[in-house]
Amino acid sequence: MDETKYPGIYENWFGKKKFLFTKSLDGKIFFGEKLIEGYRELDPTRSKLGAAVIKKISSIGLKENNLVLYLGASHGYTASFVSDIVGKRGIVYCVDFSPRVVMQLVFVCEERENMIPILADARKPLSYQNRVTKVDFVYCDVAQREQVDLFLKNVKMFLKPKSYCMLALKARSIDAVKNPRKIYEVVKKELSAELRVLSVVELDPLEKDHCVFLCQYK
Ligand SMILES: C[S@@+](CC[C@H](N)C(=O)[O-])C[C@H]1O[C@@H](n2cnc3c(N)ncnc32)[C@H](O)[C@@H]1O
Repeated sequence: MDETKYPGIYENWFGKKKFLFTKSLDGKIFFGEKLIEGYRELDPTRSKLGAAVIKKISSIGLKENNLVLYLGASHGYTASFVSDIVGKRGIVYCVDFSPRVVMQLVFVCEERENMIPILADARKPLSYQNRVTKVDFVYCDVAQREQVDLFLKNVKMFLKPKSYCMLALKARSIDAVKNPRKIYEVVKKELSAELRVLSVVELDPLEKDHCVFLCQYK
């Protein structure tokens, strides 16, 4: 397994194809992923974080021991890999508002002491303010019309100054017909008003009409 420039993310080539991995905290798998000598395969077609790495984002802004606020954790697929990256002394606060997916997320969090499930609406960060500390990284993947607003709201409330945050943006949730590139331009301007936008990568064809923004809180 070879280290990549992204902390906690490894790669291996099988034939002509590159595969991504994280070192599993506990040797367990949760989503039927491949486990090779203690490393879990991160599928970039299931994870926008993985897709951003394949698309050569400048950095993931995330490292060991980080405290992370994860908005839109769903069943915990990508969140479980973030849990591997931050390790036992890090924490991943996993927010999702769908009781159906949080039921499954809870099973993953029961196995992982560094993952905390929070059933809440990310548009209302005040509702979980008493359960989340200041964090080193905010990750947002909610695929909702209000994705930029709620991302910025949470960043302002929870992110430590100079720390990093990542928005996985679904253009079709903002406008189903507009050219996604036009949407990315508008979003970049909105983010730039509050944050330093460090890297922007389009995820096509791994995730159609999605773009990831890596930013730093000023
Ligand atoms: C695209 S899925 C996330 C996939 C996940 N990030 C992964 O990579 O494994 C989007 C998730 O965001 C959640 N979501 C959407 N709007 C939300 C909101 N306002 N507050 C909390 N969760 C929200 C949905 O319930 C859904 O589970």
